[in-house]
Amino acid sequence: MKATAASVATAITLGASTVLGAATIKARDSDITPITVKGNAFFKGDERFYMRGVDYQPGGSSDLSDPIADADGCKRDIKYFKELGLNTIRVYSVDNSQDHDECMEALAEAGIYLVLDVNTPEYSINRDKPHKSYNDVYLQYIFATIEKFAKYDNTLAFFSGNEVVDDGPSSAAAPYVKAVTRDMRTYLRSRKLRHVPVGYSAADVNTNRLEMAEYMNCGTDDERSDFFAFNDYSWCDPSSFTTSGWDQKVKNFTGYGLPLFLSEYGCNINTREFNEVEALYSEKMTPVYSGGLVYEYTQGKNNYGLVKVDGDDVKPNKDYKALKAAFEETDNPKGNGNYNSTGGASGCPVKSLPNWNVDADALLPAMPAPAKKYLTEGAGKGEGFSGAGSQDAGVESSGDATQGSGDVSAATSGGAAASPTSSEGAAPGLKPSQFGFAAASVGMVTVLSTVFGAAFILL
Ligand SMILES: *[C@@H]1O[C@H](CO)[C@@H](O)[C@H](O)[C@H]1NC(C)=O
Ligand SMILES: *[C@@H]1O[C@H](CO)[C@@H](O)[C@H](O)[C@H]1NC(C)=O
Repeated sequence: MKATAASVATAITLGASTVLGAATIKARDSDITPITVKGNAFFKGDERFYMRGVDYQPGGSSDLSDPIADADGCKRDIKYFKELGLNTIRVYSVDNSQDHDECMEALAEAGIYLVLDVNTPEYSINRDKPHKSYNDVYLQYIFATIEKFAKYDNTLAFFSGNEVVDDGPSSAAAPYVKAVTRDMRTYLRSRKLRHVPVGYSAADVNTNRLEMAEYMNCGTDDERSDFFAFNDYSWCDPSSFTTSGWDQKVKNFTGYGLPLFLSEYGCNINTREFNEVEALYSEKMTPVYSGGLVYEYTQGKNNYGLVKVDGDDVKPNKDYKALKAAFEETDNPKGNGNYNSTGGASGCPVKSLPNWNVDADALLPAMPAPAKKYLTEGAGKGEGFSGAGSQDAGVESSGDATQGSGDVSAATSGGAAASPTSSEGAAPGLKPSQFGFAAASVGMVTVLSTVFGAAFILL
């Protein structure tokens, strides 16, 4: 948000001191530095950036509303974000037919970044029918969301999906998650938008967490993510770095070539002391982790909230105070936290049933043909929360994509015939019939859990 000619002109008529004042304020608004990726870390300019954040979706999935479109609610809550010392919030769903300028600007002024899930309960990949739900109507929705949010310097990252894979069998949907991630990155590139980092938020599943991380970072550059995140509720106070098993996760992820962070944390089985904060921002973890997001700001039925919101009234609770104290006591490491400046691709995990059901050399599904025009023409208007939904709409992918060098045509070319590196039809593991394509079991639970996470609906 640069100072506009109009605002400068207005200020001039009010006298010199006001001009300076206005210019300073405007300069500060526009000064939020976009976050970039170097090696396995995030950077704000030359300085390592660690997420200190919360998950933020007042009303949750049962009473879906867009918190970024609600400028008053947003400003009401920014006061508490600042008091907690946050630099990031994560939002699970936005209505892409709404305006978000006022809240995004207020967040930027407060030095707060947004990690945004591009999906909604109605527009998302359904793990029970990934081939059907990966279609042009879906892509139009998420591209429209990207177009709206890439323009804000404080959009830190986009999630291409949340907990789509939540056990061994559902790993068969992973190629679709990866295809969506590829398509989002392709869209940013071909529309010449800022390259907001794109990645996936994985479920708290021990049996294939590492495979999912490796999978999202293997293959050609056009197919790899910009970061990886997972939800982790394994540190339940009283606990420790070793008791929680976080030491083992650090070991397992050492050498992983992308930035890694916790997209949800904050086990609430016992009294929450948030002792994991000290570990998360210590040099025990910062060589491979870049902070995380506490689940969640607003109190809801599942009892994870830090504050109770009632109209304009916000009441912080015990957990809020514990988290505030933990953040206050915890500085980031000096210097760069021993990040790995090399970064780079992982090998593709080998298929290993029952936990990982994707062939290491399987090609990704190509972008559904009617969606390709959005890369050049733009996605246009979003249907928002009142749209008809995409899971049973539109045109599906017609075949495998060529692995490419990162250019648009390589990433999106569809159909086995058009694909020089693929002489067969859909790769094994990508056949729609294997995913209950025609199955009727599309409960609300599936849909919501894909968007909002297991913890959200199980409790
Ligand atoms: C770490 O990796 C090993 C070997 O793949 C695995 O058995 C173990 O469950 C992993 N630990 C964690 C905490 O992810
Ligand atoms: C740094 O990352 C590269 C690429 O992923 C990896 O090969 C190397 O082992 C990593 N180094 C350390 C110290 O983790």
